This record gives sequence, structure tokens and C-alpha cells, in this order.
Amino acid sequence: MERSHHSKFTIDSYQNLPSTNDLMLELAHNHQINHNHVIVADSQDQGHGRYGRDWSSPKGNLYFSLLVKPNKQIEEFSLLSFVAAIALSKTIEKFRNDSQEISHKWPNDILINDKKVAGILLKSDGNISNPSFIIIGIGLNINSHPEDTNFKATNLESEKISNLNREEILKEFLDNFDIFYEEFLNFGFAPIRNLWLKKAFRLNKTINVNLVDQKMTACFKDLNNSGNLILGGEDNEVKIISSAEIFS
Ligand code: BTN
Repeated sequence: MERSHHSKFTIDSYQNLPSTNDLMLELAHNHQINHNHVIVADSQDQGHGRYGRDWSSPKGNLYFSLLVKPNKQIEEFSLLSFVAAIALSKTIEKFRNDSQEISHKWPNDILINDKKVAGILLKSDGNISNPSFIIIGIGLNINSHPEDTNFKATNLESEKISNLNREEILKEFLDNFDIFYEEFLNFGFAPIRNLWLKKAFRLNKTINVNLVDQKMTACFKDLNNSGNLILGGEDNEVKIISSAEIFS
């Protein structure tokens, strides 16, 4: 492991880990990790994504976890995925030319030209009623992506964003995250929500949504103050969705 520092952040870099999220969780439980600590790995053997899925993690892409200890109520912890999403899309924007469209897919994916290029997975401690930290795990496809995914995936190089340096991308992300995190702490979710909505995938358009027990097709109307998806059906009935997956 090599330790380095970038502004407020401490970065531990590993060649290979089972999962940066798992190691961070273990160290956080043992109180060995402070606010703004980052663990990054060149590859992961047991990277995981949402819904307990595997996150394919060969060498060449970026896999990292960031631990923060926000002085916020538990209900607001999950909103940090939107803070991370806007920091990540801004990061990608810095390295693109103007031909690629970057968007935010609810709840926490980043798309390039309507294909998934990055995912975000939040983890907190077992003390659900009073968590003391949150781990933001991010996987960004740089030169490869899996083919067999529910929602089509891509990587930066396939979308003609090339000559990338993973360290530089990570530092750029951390600088952006720092700005939006401070904004979130000082002004709450409203400014984050606005920025997220500006690049929301299929806003005011029909989307297909997989809920736990049903599939539905409806218009994506808005994001509410709790980060929930607001859908409108043909019958004008409004639905508030807190957990689901948008599919192609
Ligand atoms: C998703 O399902 O979209 C979320 C994917 C999150 C993957 C990242 S890679 C770094 C960190 N470690 C993990 O095991 N998962 C996250």
C-alpha cells in the first residue's frame, strides 16, 4: 500500500483488493479511518454493485471509496450519492470534448451518450439509526466495460475520451466533491438537486422502471427533496419512488 495526500484527502493506493468498499468498512469499524480518507485499487476481485451484483473490476478502470463523516441527520446521508454524482459528471466533463453527452441516471449512475460509464454505491455502518460515517464507493470505466449488463455500459475510451491518467481523474473528482460537499453542508440539498436535474437522463420523458414487485412505464417528472423519483402516469396520478431501477 502507498499513502499519499491531496488537499484535505488521504489516499491509500493498493494494487489489488477484494473490494475498496469492504476494506474501508472494516477499517472504519475498527476506528482506523478518518473523514476524507480514500482507498483506491488498480483491480478488485470481489467488487460489488447495487442489488448485490458483481462489479467487474479488471485493471485499467478506476475503483475507489471515500469515507466522510457528515454532521447531518441520517435521512440526509443517502443524498450524498447525488453530491458524488454531480462531482463525477463534472470531472468527466473536464476531460471530454463537446461531442459526448454526459447525464445523471437516477438514482446514482453516470451515463455517456446514454450508456452507463460509472456507478456509485453507498455503505454506512450497522448503526442505522445513528450512523457515524458513510462510504461512497465509485467505479468508473476507463478502458473496459462488461457486455452482459441490464442497462448498456460503456467506457471513457470507447466514447473517445482518451489519454487519461487515473490519478489525475481521482484528484479532479476529490476537488469537485469537496466543493459540492461543502455546498451540501452549508445550503442543504436544494443546490445539489438543481445541478443534478440539469443533466438528468430522460427528465420529462417516459421511462421504464423496475420496482421490487412490478415494472412500470411513466413520465419522469421530478426529483423531490429526499432524492426520490417523482413519476406521473397517464392517469395523472403522481407516484413517489424511493427505490427502483430505470432500464432501457
Ligand atoms: C453500481 O451498481 O452501479 C455501483 C457500483 C459501485 C462499484 C464501486 S468500485 C469501488 C467500490 N468497491 C466496490 O466493491 N464497489 C464500489
